[in-house]
Amino acid sequence: MTRKITLWFAFLLLATINTFAQSEMAILPKIIEKDGRHALLVDGKPYLILGGQAHNSSAWPGMMPRVWLAAEAMHLNTLEVPVYWEQVEAQPGRFDFSVVNTLISQARQHKVHLVLLWFATWKNGSNHYMPEWMKRDAAKYPNITGRNGQHVDSPSPNVQATLDADIKAFTALMRYLKIADPQHTVLMVQVENESGAWGSVRDYSPLAQKLFEGPVPAQLLQPAVLTALNVPVVTGGTWQQVFGDRADEYFQAWSVARFIGQVAAAGKAVYPLPLYVNAALREPFGNPKANNYESGGPTDNVLPVWKVAAPAIDIEAPDIYLTGSDKVLKVIDLYDRPDNPLFVPEAGLVAENARYFYTVLAHGGIGFSPFGIDDNGVAEKAALMTERLSPFAQEYAAAAPMMPQLAAWAFDGKIKSVVEHEDHAEQTLDMGAWQANVKFGGDGRANAAPEYAGATGKLLVAKLAENQFIVMGTRCHLSFQPLGGNAGKTWQYLKVEEGQYQNGTFKPLRILNGDETDWGGPGFGDVPTVLRISLVVVR
Ligand code: DGJ
Repeated sequence: MTRKITLWFAFLLLATINTFAQSEMAILPKIIEKDGRHALLVDGKPYLILGGQAHNSSAWPGMMPRVWLAAEAMHLNTLEVPVYWEQVEAQPGRFDFSVVNTLISQARQHKVHLVLLWFATWKNGSNHYMPEWMKRDAAKYPNITGRNGQHVDSPSPNVQATLDADIKAFTALMRYLKIADPQHTVLMVQVENESGAWGSVRDYSPLAQKLFEGPVPAQLLQPAVLTALNVPVVTGGTWQQVFGDRADEYFQAWSVARFIGQVAAAGKAVYPLPLYVNAALREPFGNPKANNYESGGPTDNVLPVWKVAAPAIDIEAPDIYLTGSDKVLKVIDLYDRPDNPLFVPEAGLVAENARYFYTVLAHGGIGFSPFGIDDNGVAEKAALMTERLSPFAQEYAAAAPMMPQLAAWAFDGKIKSVVEHEDHAEQTLDMGAWQANVKFGGDGRANAAPEYAGATGKLLVAKLAENQFIVMGTRCHLSFQPLGGNAGKTWQYLKVEEGQYQNGTFKPLRILNGDETDWGGPGFGDVPTVLRISLVVVR
């Protein structure tokens, strides 16, 4: 009898531990996929990163107060901050995560989440964040050798000693996070920063040359991968034989991705947070060659290489510094793939870029984040920063109360958006039974600012029901027209409410009517407003 009871208790204990372990796993931030769409789950629910990234040298305790001022001014819910390899492992094998601890505890006080950026072997293509003891031993941790034997300011991805050192440090960081952050203040970690090389398409050192002259690895020879890379399907060969005039850049992409993939896999084995890498983009049109972009990083042309070489990386993410809506929209298309959640971890802090926040939502993206939100140590810049943050801050202030709804709608594919192009031309959105017509440049009435030449207007529409929408926008004027079976019918606005979500329910502030809707439809001024629009077909 006693033995039976003991066994029963042992069983109960195991079941409890198991349930606890499962619920721990369940609340770990994770990325899910459904029908080629993605969501970042935080506490088990879709979450939208309303992000901002600190300047490169701002993640020091003495600098953080001003970063937090910027974070508050921006209404962000997630701060992206670097972790510096040179700081956490100043002596080989001796790790000091006190600064990381400060970042995490301050983030909790400010009630925001963190995305940590592992500035390690690569930072913008260079090794500048390697600890001093590595920089002093360039023979052991060498840079790339250029085609003519020249020194290139970029670490070689083919060196085992560098890989081993990075794996050791990154796993130490992930082990630390696992213990220090049971409440998952840290949502994701970016592995390296804009990896790849400027100044040489690949490494031409004897070690790299030997690999280059060897066979292409089997993972890359899969027919689907070769087809995606636009080369004939073959069963084997050297890099030159398989990839022709693209061999150098694909070899470099494979080498960098394999390196980072191994660092990521080792860290994930310790603590399985979502991991991503960011790309210094190449021009998205015309298929430029690697001497025109940072070679080896996750640029659009080598995404198929990265996917097979670095499966522990959940997201290849575009950093948006290109200008021109045609290019930026193309880039967003290229990185929104069934095998790649869309996340924009950096965008230049210029007013025009705030519009792409809407594009990201319409693509079902998991987040958006302008770069360089703090005054970078120059207190006199504070006023200027407030001005520069404002276009983003206004969007986040409007989006934050309905963040859970926006994240869920984005995941379900319910959001569509238009952003003003440089020609300011009118655009339309097909919303099923209705077409939304959007004119840019002002709210369509007295608040239009014809002298304003910038393209900052934008509108997003979330379809709640056949005839009901949540709409948010700036500097545009909206009207509707019935489509499909309703085409040509008479209709009117049933109700246009301005308001905001509170605890999951739309709370109207007022009903817009009269001048506010009679001129074809509602207008949106400089500051984003949220409307719930209900339409009715009359006959
Ligand atoms: C992109 C990088 O990822 C950032 O760390 C930063 O260097 C910006 N460029 C430019 O300031």
